[in-house]
Amino acid sequence: MTTEITYAEVKFKNESNSSGPTSELPDHISKFPEAPPTKMTRPLNSNPINSNPGIIKLLVAALLIFILLAISFLIALIVVSQEHFRASSELEEISRKIKEESNRGSHRNCSCCPKHWKAFGSSCYFISVEEKTWPESEKNCSAMQAHLLVVTTKEEQNFIIQSLDTKSEYYIGLHDRTSNTYGRRHWNWVDQTPYNESATFWDSGEPNTDNERCVVLHFHTKTNKWGWNDVICDQRHKSICKMTKIYFSA
Ligand code: BGC
Ligand code: CA
Repeated sequence: MTTEITYAEVKFKNESNSSGPTSELPDHISKFPEAPPTKMTRPLNSNPINSNPGIIKLLVAALLIFILLAISFLIALIVVSQEHFRASSELEEISRKIKEESNRGSHRNCSCCPKHWKAFGSSCYFISVEEKTWPESEKNCSAMQAHLLVVTTKEEQNFIIQSLDTKSEYYIGLHDRTSNTYGRRHWNWVDQTPYNESATFWDSGEPNTDNERCVVLHFHTKTNKWGWNDVICDQRHKSICKMTKIYFSA
């Protein structure tokens, strides 16, 4: 057993009226042996996590948010991949159908008319119900890569009249508008087909007026027949366009 001995330097004040040595020590001298240096250890409850339950709640909330975000991301990923899968299957199906159609069409040639046009022989016909002057009517046909009706046979006229209204008049592509032939009734077809007297279908008594230089196809109530009449080109009438069938080959 060891005994700790404390040595202290003791100074006594030189006091005349001192009654003897005092046992009191000056303040700066420890009465106890010097304590050994102690290790700095944190008390048990000094951990911020242990000491602050709010942080735990915060961590749990953050974890939950993270899990929710991860789940949402996964769901979005699944939805997007399903959509992608569906779209690519649809694309595959469409391209398969196109291939099928083109294979089927590759063995066919066709002479066709545009939608809403009527086919007869090697030509297509369009009845324009907008009322226009003769020059406007011809322009309307040209804009559709066609021209006003040129009648070449009785059969052709018989075919086209089936689609006409007996109360209307329809411009055709016959005119006498060449300026230096006024009064001489010089008839021209718009597509340069030669005017053939033997294939004309004038109403009886027509053409009858020099300044009526354009021609309509109409139903003549007196004779109960469809025929031609010369009229003033500025009058507004319906019209008939004609074009050659479009030939497709594959
Ligand atoms: C027309 C003429 C036509 C005549 C027949 C008139 O109203 O303008 O083009 O020749 O009728 O009678
Ligand atoms: Ca006339």
